[in-house]
Parts: sequence; structure tokens; C-alpha cells
Amino acid sequence: MSIDYKAEIERMKHELDVTVVAHFYQRDEVFDMADITGDSLELARRCQADKNPWVVFCGVGFMGQSVKVIAPEKRVLMPKIACCAMARMIDGSYFDDSVNYMVERGIAKEDILPITYINSDATVKSKVGEMGGMVCTSSNAFKIIEKGLESGKKILFVPDRCLGQNFAIQMGLKSCVIGEGECDPKEADVICFNGFCSVHQLFTLDDIEFYRNKYPGIKIAVHPECDPKIVLAADFSGSTSQLIKYVSELDPEEKVAVGTEYNLVNRMRKKNTYVLSSTKPECPTMNETTLEDLYLTLKSIEDGQPINEIVVDEHTAKWANIALQRMLEIR
Ligand code: 13P
Ligand code: SF4
Repeated sequence: MSIDYKAEIERMKHELDVTVVAHFYQRDEVFDMADITGDSLELARRCQADKNPWVVFCGVGFMGQSVKVIAPEKRVLMPKIACCAMARMIDGSYFDDSVNYMVERGIAKEDILPITYINSDATVKSKVGEMGGMVCTSSNAFKIIEKGLESGKKILFVPDRCLGQNFAIQMGLKSCVIGEGECDPKEADVICFNGFCSVHQLFTLDDIEFYRNKYPGIKIAVHPECDPKIVLAADFSGSTSQLIKYVSELDPEEKVAVGTEYNLVNRMRKKNTYVLSSTKPECPTMNETTLEDLYLTLKSIEDGQPINEIVVDEHTAKWANIALQRMLEIR
């Protein structure tokens, strides 16, 4: 007899005191089973406030890891410890190299304030925390950079060059990207690491032109992980939650093309919403988690042999938590 995964997941969630968490980019079958959904910032805040001892996190590695760092008393499991490709573009030594790049060009280490996008490993967050820096997400980057600037220091922004540049443009700041042309830290306010999201690089000016020609007056809404020229050409840019809000507040007859991950755009609203790309912008690792994986993870708790548990060493967790808490304190 085949297993009714949905019924079994519901039963185990309640019997075992487990909270299932899912990011918006998860497949519908997984997303529908979640108790907590949201953008990266909302997930971090709501998991911290949640009372259950177990969290099963459906998303990518840095997300589950952030919950473990903020709430170390919780047991955090991931059906798949799938990696965010952008988060994997930087590690501790690449972070140190970026700091050294600035130091070699005349900026004292004490005059650098690092900010890391939440899409990074705990080791990077920890190094950022030790240098007095903070974490940010796509929904609060403006406020976090603004706060960082109060220190009078240069901002080292890692790992997403697009997010760093997009917010620098919004704030009227000068930015440059290490490894791209002449990046002189003395001339810039925000110095960006050269990381990016391959999914959000798919959206092009040709895509925008195609939709504007086909449907005059169509709105274009994109995630700030898109290239700055895409964000500048769009009508709106925001985090996944902000994109959902923007689209839901449009008149139902108004057309909108959205530049972010396929599962989310497909779920937004059935009528008059288009994916801003001729190829399917699927985040491969977000899509790895299946309903069966979720079932097997809960079953492993029931059987007393939890699988894929997130572990972060004490030193890393301490400083990564400090960097995350500095962010969470800013409203
Ligand atoms: P949000 O914080 O907007 O949910 O973004 C996370 C992400 O990985 C986007 O690619
Ligand atoms: Fe990472 Fe891009 Fe996937 Fe978001 S969409 S999780 S940034 S690879």
C-alpha cells in the first residue's frame, strides 16, 4: 500500500512538535505543507519566535543554518541540505582576501564595515560579526547599509555584487566590484564582492523589451539580485515578500512580468502574471526537496534517528549570531 505523504506529514508534525518551514521558491507540494513561509528575513524572525523544539527547514543550506545560529536550542533538520550557489561563491579565505584587497589599497581594517547578505555560510557571517559588521537580506538592505554608513566606515558588501550595487544606486552612493575594472576602495562608499545569483542573471533587457512591446503598459517587477541595469529598467524591485505584495495590490486586469524564481511567480496569481524570461528560471537546489524527502525527514525524528541535522561549531555560531542579531535589532 502506498504511503499518504501529506496525511503522514500532518500527523507527525503534531505528534512530534515539529515546525515545517518553507521558502517561497520551494515546489508547491512542499510549500503547501509548511507552517511558516516567508522571505529570508521573515523566516529568520518567525523561526526565532517559534516555540517548537524541532524545525524541518525546506530551503537552501544558509537558511537552515541561520535558524540554528539564532536559536541554538532547536534541533534543525533539512530534507535536503541543498546549497545556494551564490552563498558558495565566498568562504572565509575569500572574505579575508577582500578585506586585504581594501587594506592594500590604503583603507585601514578598522575603517571597514562588512555587511554580508544572508545568502552566505555561517563562517562568513562569523567573520563579519567579529569585525563589527551585520547581516542583511533583500528586504532590509537599504536600512542596514544606512545604519552601516553611520559608522563613517567603508562598506565591504559580500557576496552579491548585484544587491550591493542596486542599493548603492538607490541610496546615491558610489560602488565598485572587486575584480571588475578599476575598483578603488578610496573612491567608493560600497565595495562589493563579485558574487551573483545565476538564476537572477537570466533576466535581460531583451526580456523587458519583449514584454513591453507585446503588452504596452505592462509592469515589470524584479528581485534586487538581478543586474543593476535590469533593476533600473524595472517598475519595481523587492524581496520575494515585497514582490508578492506588489503584485497582489495591482488591479486584477493589470499585466505584470516578474523577474524571480519560477515556482514563486507561478504561484503569485494565475491571471495576467508572466515569468520575465524565455527560459525557465528555476533555482535547481531549491527544487531538490520533494514531498517524500519531507516525509522521510519527519519519519527519521519519529524513529529516533534524525537525518541531515544542522550543526554549527560554537565559535562560528557565536559571532554569526552577533551579526544576525545586529540585523534583527534594526526594524
Ligand atoms: P528573499 O529574501 O527575497 O526571499 O530572497 C532569497 C533568495 O535566495 C532570492 O534568490
Ligand atoms: Fe541562491 Fe539564487 Fe537560488 Fe536564491 S535563487 S537560493 S540566490 S541560487
